[in-house]
Amino acid sequence: MKVTQSEFVISAVGPDQYPDDALPEIALAGRSNVGKSSLINKLINRKNLARTSSTPGKTQCLNYYRINEQLYFVDFPGYGYAKVSKTQREAWGKMIERYLLERETLKLVLLVVDLRHPPSKDDEMMYEWLKHYEIPICVVATKADKIPRSRWAKHAKQMKTSLLLRGEDTFIMYSSETGMGKDELWSVILNHSKR
Ligand code: GTP
Ligand code: MG
Repeated sequence: MKVTQSEFVISAVGPDQYPDDALPEIALAGRSNVGKSSLINKLINRKNLARTSSTPGKTQCLNYYRINEQLYFVDFPGYGYAKVSKTQREAWGKMIERYLLERETLKLVLLVVDLRHPPSKDDEMMYEWLKHYEIPICVVATKADKIPRSRWAKHAKQMKTSLLLRGEDTFIMYSSETGMGKDELWSVILNHSKR
């Protein structure tokens, strides 16, 4: 897709701050530091619109980005960061759960995982939880540039097997460095945002 306009809208902590123009929303969930914000930036050809950082666990809000007056990306705070307190973790859980269960304009969750490693327990739990609530999922295995091409298929297979990936969910290998998987991901996103 040709992105002509992209802007940061709001860091929302709860429903009263979510935008109310009913555009379709594509949420990004995944471990802290896995590459969610980088993935957004690559998709929209912006260097640093979605803030990336080397200090994980910073973002505690839902960051909304409006794309072409057509859809929103909703960047979640990453999970699984060890230094976050129990209270913070619980607040995170409540905020995400509420969003995922109540947000009617949510069309698709991009579950972002690291192609180099097997999914974490949190990745597996997140996938099962999304399945349980029948939320459409696309698993995006990022940082593909960090392993040799000859190992892509093996890693992809292991990821799908460990997650117990269901046939209805798309799996895409991606790299925010090289742009690998970008066109395929856009077509999945546009497809779901029309539903
Ligand atoms: P939180 O917001 O803390 O949850 O992290 P995040 O998931 O948004 O990760 P972020 O996009 O900030 O990326 C974390 C680090 O990984 C940064 O140093 C990125 O440059 C790097 N990174 C992200 N995607 C890729 C990729 O596809 N390839 C390579 N080589 N590095 C990547
Ligand atoms: Mg981020």
